[in-house]
Amino acid sequence: MKPILISGIQPTGRLHLGNYLGALKNFVDLQNSGKYDCYFFVADLHALTENPEAKNLRANVINLTADFLAIGLNSKESILFQQSQIGQVQELKLILGPLTPISELIRMTAFKEKVLQRIEQKTGEKLTEEKIENIAEESNFGLVEYPILMAADILLYDAQFVPVGEDQLQHLEFARTLARKFNKKFGKTFVEPKALLTSTSRVMSLDNPQKKMSKSLPAGCLFIDDEPNTIKERIKRAVTDSGNEIKYDKKNKPAISNLLSIYSALSGESVTRLEKKFAGKNYSYFKTELAESINKHFKDFRVKKTALLKKPATLKKTFAAGSKKARLRAEKKIKEVKKKIGLI
Ligand code: AMP
Ligand code: TRP
Repeated sequence: MKPILISGIQPTGRLHLGNYLGALKNFVDLQNSGKYDCYFFVADLHALTENPEAKNLRANVINLTADFLAIGLNSKESILFQQSQIGQVQELKLILGPLTPISELIRMTAFKEKVLQRIEQKTGEKLTEEKIENIAEESNFGLVEYPILMAADILLYDAQFVPVGEDQLQHLEFARTLARKFNKKFGKTFVEPKALLTSTSRVMSLDNPQKKMSKSLPAGCLFIDDEPNTIKERIKRAVTDSGNEIKYDKKNKPAISNLLSIYSALSGESVTRLEKKFAGKNYSYFKTELAESINKHFKDFRVKKTALLKKPATLKKTFAAGSKKARLRAEKKIKEVKKKIGLI
């Protein structure tokens, strides 16, 4: 039997290069390696923590299913599904909740960052992380219990591997802790999952290389379904460092280093090779080449995605069929869990 591998992406907006290089590209490579039983899903329940409008959420779910298929995931080799269609994940979340001290949840980096961001957007006030632990106003219960739902997503399928970007490592460690805690109390039930990171597990923002590229800060994003001209424009406008050398130096040249990592991950050429290739060239030349390389890389994807979006019913059907398969596995596991804890 092949080891199980699972990952999800939230339908909270268009996918950017960080999502692609940190996660999605790896999903495709791992699927195509043939070494795993792959499960990939649209994390629509997690997206609820952003309080989306119903019509936006619906459109984002369809959009993400098209992204999954256009980029190369397929329902023959992977189980592709929609998180909310597996009711058992909610049961498991409920079962895991009482094993989790609230203090652990409000210490999560992702939680604190989200709340800080919301307060800053609303009031312009910058608060410290410590202060967040005392503030409940801008939060919601969904955001607090986010890591428990994510742990349930993973543990429900006995997944051994979870390909994610670096920002999810803390959540994954949390899932491992919960699995261990549960196993200790009720006997061996869950697998402790391991993260699989890419070499670009933290792509930085194009307008600030100190911040990670993030859907909630669209100004610094490069979206993978952007039109070629938009991509050119965004790369042209990306901040650079002082000097004019194309050199990888994360500390002194964080912006160029970020662009070099992106170029390298997309082209498969090593950073050293790229440094040689662009020796003596200026930033502007490098950026033009980079934009071209990005456009070439996503050309096929763009065409396929446009075609898929014209057939939303087919997309829905594909994911409904995957959800049915995922549910079969989930049903078995939740029964085992309920037996272990004395519910049945
Ligand atoms: P999300 O959009 O938050 O659901 O993220 C989907 C996947 O993309 C997760 O595995 C994240 O860890 C990954 N990801 C998000 N932003 C970045 C980034 N800037 N660099 C690398 N990976 C990222
Ligand atoms: N929290 C993840 C993110 O923001 C998405 C996610 C939800 C996930 N459940 C998961 C990723 C389970 C891996 C496994 O990127």
